[in-house]
Order: sequence, then C-alpha cells, then structure tokens
Amino acid sequence: MVKLKVDRGRCIGCGSCVSLYPDIFEMDGGRAKERDGEKEFSSEEGEEIKSVCPVGAIIENNDK
Ligand code: F3S
Repeated sequence: MVKLKVDRGRCIGCGSCVSLYPDIFEMDGGRAKERDGEKEFSSEEGEEIKSVCPVGAIIENNDK
C-alpha cells in the first residue's frame, strides 16, 4: 500500500488532482495539498493518481 502527498515546491497549481480526486486533495494558497486523514492506496491506484499531475508533484509519502 502507498500513501501520497503533494510536493508543494513542484506543484504549479494546475488543479487536475483536486478536480479528479476531491476526496484526496484540496487547493491551499494556489497549490494542492493532500487532505487530512490516513489514506492508503494499492500501488496500482497510487500510480493512477500520480499520473494525473503533469509535473510529477504527487509523490509517495514514506514518512508517515
Ligand atoms: Fe499541483 Fe499537480 Fe495537483 S500541479 S494542483 S499537484 S495535479
């Protein structure tokens, strides 16, 4: 299982992740961030979600 987060330094605020996955991401100050709460995805789901970001700013969160 994988957890995801937004690399806010890399996010350009395109909003695709928030449009497609509003339960997972929200906009904050022109950039996306992951919503609070533990969310885990299968690696397949994780890859699909990561692929919506054109600049690769959705990354795996291995800290939590
Ligand atoms: Fe930012 Fe990528 Fe989402 S640019 S708003 S993390 S799709």
